Amino acid sequence: METYTLNDAHTLPVIGFGTYPLRGEAGIVAMTSALEAGYRMLDSAVNYRNEYEVGEALRRSGLPRAEVRIATKVPGRDHGRAKAIASVEASLEVMGLDHVDLALIHWPNPSRGRYVDTWVGLVEARERGLVTSIGVSNFTAEYLQEIIDATGVVPAVNQIELHPRFPQEEMRAAHAELGIRTESWSPLGKRNAAYEEPAVAGAAASHDVTPAQVILRWQLQLGCLPLPKSATPERQRANLDVFGFELTQAEMTAITALGRPDGRLFDGDPRTHEEM
Ligand SMILES: NC(=O)c1ccc[n+]([C@@H]2O[C@H](COP(=O)([O-])OP(=O)(O)OC[C@H]3O[C@@H](n4cnc5c(N)ncnc54)[C@H](OP(=O)(O)O)[C@@H]3O)[C@@H](O)[C@H]2O)c1
Repeated sequence: METYTLNDAHTLPVIGFGTYPLRGEAGIVAMTSALEAGYRMLDSAVNYRNEYEVGEALRRSGLPRAEVRIATKVPGRDHGRAKAIASVEASLEVMGLDHVDLALIHWPNPSRGRYVDTWVGLVEARERGLVTSIGVSNFTAEYLQEIIDATGVVPAVNQIELHPRFPQEEMRAAHAELGIRTESWSPLGKRNAAYEEPAVAGAAASHDVTPAQVILRWQLQLGCLPLPKSATPERQRANLDVFGFELTQAEMTAITALGRPDGRLFDGDPRTHEEM
């Protein structure tokens, strides 16, 4: 698996595996099958309530710990410096690990006004070795600037909603300027995937691949790190099999042009949507 080098010199695979809403024994089976298929990064969160399953899938896979990147996210109810550190410690306990590779602030929850303190907590968690790389999720350019100004520490990644119907051109440009890697959540577009749009279906036909593979290839050529979720082993494998073809500039432009201002999957504008 190819990797991206982050602004802290650590690396992440260019594609990760999304684990929401995989839970229980079926969840462990799906995550273990993803690791067998070749995924080397599992994207979890306290609020997915599947951190035990993530740790268990890693153990069942038999893969060396150093070969798999494990990511989690601090929930809104754990905002604040000390609570964020305690949240990462609790995640490690549940996962049965001594460190995670990536910890993110899940949502900024601006009405609470505590994302700066939470970021200070993640910086400290990294200093204490609980986590290797730290980042955020669902942050706007303004919130990014605030936490950078307060600490001098630039997040390694910002995980945001990004798919053909919401290609996030402004946020990608902001990330490029700051040296932040864009991670894409709902990278296929979930229930509103653009599989049948001519820009996607046409490219799939010309490259003899599936529409989902076209969308994931588009993600990679944008320089993003997509986190596709699938409970189906066949789809898990297909979603990794995107390195044998290349979209043309015209195909890339046509897919990006599917974007709409109201293209979000739900009303997930981080300035107003909050999750605890
Ligand atoms: N940071 C955040 O706030 C946030 C928010 C949402 C999601 N996330 C992360 O992003 C990950 C992925 O997001 P998501 O699950 O919402 O969306 P997604 O990965 O875009 O779509 C997943 C859906 O697509 C189906 N699918 C997967 N591969 C397919 C293929 N090759 N062909 C056709 N259908 C396919 C899956 O079904 P099957 O499972 O049945 O194959 C599932 O229903 C989550 O698991 C989570 O880790 C983060």
